[in-house]
Amino acid sequence: MKPGPSLMRHFLQFKDFRAEEYAYLFERTRIIKTRFKNYEKYQPLADRTLAMIFEKASTRTRVSFEAGMYQMGGSVVHLTTGDSQLGRAEPVEDSARVISRMVDLVMIRTYEQAKLEAFAAHSRVPVINGLTNEYHPCQILADIFTFIEHRGAIQGKVVAWVGDGNNMANTWLQAAEILGFTVHVSTPGGYEVDAARAGIRDHSCYKVFDHPLDACRDAHLVTTDVWTSMGYEAENEERRKAFVEWCVDEDMMAVAQPDALFMHCLPAHRGEEVTAEVIDGPQSVVWDEAENRMHVQKALMEYLLLGRIG
Ligand code: CP
Ligand code: NVA
Repeated sequence: MKPGPSLMRHFLQFKDFRAEEYAYLFERTRIIKTRFKNYEKYQPLADRTLAMIFEKASTRTRVSFEAGMYQMGGSVVHLTTGDSQLGRAEPVEDSARVISRMVDLVMIRTYEQAKLEAFAAHSRVPVINGLTNEYHPCQILADIFTFIEHRGAIQGKVVAWVGDGNNMANTWLQAAEILGFTVHVSTPGGYEVDAARAGIRDHSCYKVFDHPLDACRDAHLVTTDVWTSMGYEAENEERRKAFVEWCVDEDMMAVAQPDALFMHCLPAHRGEEVTAEVIDGPQSVVWDEAENRMHVQKALMEYLLLGRIG
């Protein structure tokens, strides 16, 4: 049975959930991942359908949601702008009303957060943000789970963000405010993070550094992202010039904690935002990070559809 409106939750921004819900989700992720690694069948979502709507390209998000849903016994419908009426100007509200009468859960990757919010406001079923211009909460869920797996609690730790003040940076700030860690941010001028845009109230959860090396000093995790996000391709040349100093290299990793981790949501451009030595080096956990997208999202889908287990 679909959850009633009063029980229904969406995952549109990281701040939609509380710290204790994240503690629950990380514990469920650990259990679900262990079962998967032991080849134990776990299919609580039999007969449930996930619609995945992509208005931008994807490898990880599509594969992780699709494989995860099948593993949990459910099925998926994959829609893109090009092969649906979404690309022919059907209002997002109408699309939401129709799609959500036929499926149990919707994941959307789109441009403006406002479009995702409009879909959710007219949906009968939970909606998940699979990336917008503003936020990428499923990725940060995976990143923090990966940190916990490798190093334990993230509370009180320092995360260095080097690069664009983009959807990933905004979501890191939201996570820091909720989970009690600090983000050291270094971006080129003109690409800064902004508390209002990130949707945070507590400015003490982040500190800004002019130089990326200073942001990395004593960090427990160093992370970055592409210089040009999807949708901003027209700015590519301008950004390549502005970001040249914001390449995570071995000097930056050397001033971080000796056991600092390196993460990147991928896809990566070696020689731009990160050197090959760092992303392919011993401190990098990018492949675990990518795999964990699937495990955290299985826990997320279970939570949105079935609530707390046990
Ligand atoms: N990290 C991430 O969301 O990857 P995709 O764009 O391949 O889905
Ligand atoms: N910031 C990047 C992340 C890609 C997963 C983008 O929005 O394109």
